[in-house]
Amino acid sequence: MRHVFWTVLLSVIAFAVTPTEIRSQNLPYKDPSLPVEDRVEDLLGRMTLREKVMQTVQRTYGKNTNINNIEKEVKAVDPTVGSLIYRSTSPELYNEIQRRAMQETRLGIPILCGFDAIHGFRTVFPIPLAQSCSWNPELVRLSCRVAASEAASSGVKWTFSPMVDVARDSRWGRVSEGYGEDPYLNTIMGIAAIKGYQGSDLSDPSAVAACLKHYVGYSMSEGGRDYQYTNISAQTLWETFMPPFEAGVKAGAATVMCAFNDMNGVPASANPYTLTEVLKKQWAHDGFVVSDWNSVEQLIAQGVAADDREACLKAFTAGVDMDMVDDIYFDHLEKLIEEGEIPVGMLDEAVRRILRLKFRLGLFEAPYVDERPEQERFLQPESIDLARRLAAESMVLLKNENEVLPIASDVKRIAVIGPMAEERAAVNGSWEGYGKPEDVTPLLDCIREKFGDRLEIDFVRGCGFDGDDRSNFDAALQVAVKADLVILCLGEKREWSGENGSRSVLELPDIQEELALYLGEADVPLIFVLSSGRPLALANVEPVAAAIIQMWQPGSQGGFALADILAGDVNPSGKLSISFPWSTGQQPVYYNVRRSARPKMGHYKDIPRTPLYPFGHGLSYTSFTYGKATCSADLVRIGEKICIEVPVTNTGKRDGMETVLWFVSDPVASISRPEKELKYFEKKLVRQGDTEIFRFEIDPERDLSFVDDKGNRHLETGEFYVLVGSQRVEFQLAD
Ligand code: NOJ
Repeated sequence: MRHVFWTVLLSVIAFAVTPTEIRSQNLPYKDPSLPVEDRVEDLLGRMTLREKVMQTVQRTYGKNTNINNIEKEVKAVDPTVGSLIYRSTSPELYNEIQRRAMQETRLGIPILCGFDAIHGFRTVFPIPLAQSCSWNPELVRLSCRVAASEAASSGVKWTFSPMVDVARDSRWGRVSEGYGEDPYLNTIMGIAAIKGYQGSDLSDPSAVAACLKHYVGYSMSEGGRDYQYTNISAQTLWETFMPPFEAGVKAGAATVMCAFNDMNGVPASANPYTLTEVLKKQWAHDGFVVSDWNSVEQLIAQGVAADDREACLKAFTAGVDMDMVDDIYFDHLEKLIEEGEIPVGMLDEAVRRILRLKFRLGLFEAPYVDERPEQERFLQPESIDLARRLAAESMVLLKNENEVLPIASDVKRIAVIGPMAEERAAVNGSWEGYGKPEDVTPLLDCIREKFGDRLEIDFVRGCGFDGDDRSNFDAALQVAVKADLVILCLGEKREWSGENGSRSVLELPDIQEELALYLGEADVPLIFVLSSGRPLALANVEPVAAAIIQMWQPGSQGGFALADILAGDVNPSGKLSISFPWSTGQQPVYYNVRRSARPKMGHYKDIPRTPLYPFGHGLSYTSFTYGKATCSADLVRIGEKICIEVPVTNTGKRDGMETVLWFVSDPVASISRPEKELKYFEKKLVRQGDTEIFRFEIDPERDLSFVDDKGNRHLETGEFYVLVGSQRVEFQLAD
């Protein structure tokens, strides 16, 4: 009660000064020469209870572009609100809102505007899953830089990205939003994204704050059904799902979003262990945690809160600092503090974290943005070039029988067939930000632009994405038999992946499979071009394909990137960051499985034991030969390092980029370890005929240790293997 008394008294004193007086005073929190922490404390000391609560409230402004974000209403903006999901690209509108916050409120605290710039803001890059197949973190960083500067120019200073939920079941539609099945790859790409968004200084006008999500375990939603409960052992949590978050926090991610799922019955939005004990105390994250959309209110649906008040109490005391959209903190936090259920110090700590970011972003000094026209801010030529390059590096050549690709000079006539050929929305993919279908040039047009001068090109759609209309099959067959090769463009509609985009079947819809098999009857090579937000199960149709390019949802420049690859102007270098199963029933399938009791037994009787295309698979138009891998020593002591090298020679007919993946295997440990784990990778250009040396420097503490079910690291001596290409290098670790 003493807290309440002082809070009320301070409010009275605070209000004795008029807003205009405070704004015109030279108060310490307005002094940019003071350290951020001093400014935060000064401002916090001047705030009323209500003003503090308002900082924890996030509302929306503008048009709802996400059908899964069901909102009660778009509320008129309260200028004391902490944050808005700002769904507009207008700097003028943003400045107007911000002007009210800066000039019409007592303390002039700027509003932090956030938005889902997931793979671009207006310039649309490939979906994150595709980006990870590029194995090129620098391109990922640069793409996030572009997204940041386009967003920031509209007033958006916070993006709800990157998602580093390690993918385990591709039925879950949101595998498209992350970086695949491996924790290390998610870590490296997550860090690249954070660095791209935030740059080296958050107060740079083109920087935006990043948000690591969804903390934690969301990708284990049971059966791949979105929003479901999860069953994750403490060991798997620490080994698989925590590492990208821990690394992202260490890399400086400004914020974290908690997830929708529960773990052991504890919803992620009400989990004091993950949010407070681990994130804030153990990892010392000094940014803030935002709930996911309505996830505080959803504690009621999840059965851990009887009503909104209890949901507020549980989420806030667990460590959720800001409440996205559902207004539960707005309605209940103040009262809970007044009643002594929540100590005011806890609110101070949440507000401190939110204000700290606003100061770091420089919002107090520079709350407004330049009101420049869109053509100066969006889709700049260098951004478009980057989108094309990243799309090309993200595409994976899964199969290329008899080197049917690139399209040879003696090919005179091709047929383009399939529902994806004229598609725009699916090429951009889900979470396309402000990307527009009209920014996309369909695959067919890109193919015509690239080859129109030298090839006859026929087009027949053949079938829809789904349904059972086969009436166009014969027309498709007729153009196919006249052609020297067929480019068959198949895949998923935009809304079949992404949030709430789970599918029970990973095969292509029956109608598309039937079309492929029908055309397979013709004596003409079929080149499959596949666009999807997840791996597809291709075993039924793969036998009729001469070549397969997995183009994912490649973003607005994807068609041009594809044409570059078909023509051989770009040599494909993508490799899978996620396994392509034989069939849906093989889910979950991922490379870094824990050892089995009977490794040669226990597999399904009706399909091979391995995926159709495993993690790391991806072909090139050239060939690479790995020489003998050598180790600098066969015994390493704790505290020392050793280096393993492998020469890679380009033995083919053109320059190409190769990514070498380095795995570690610990054959005997105190707990059963995964068969192998990726610890390092490197991508390099290897010119035709040249040899490049790839190196992996092993730091035992970092690369040979493992975490236990409480997150403690253990380094055990004994035998280790490094796996590279098809080779195994053995060495010992000793005290
Ligand atoms: C819900 C999604 O789960 C999350 O990823 C997204 O950032 C928010 N909605 C805001 O749109």
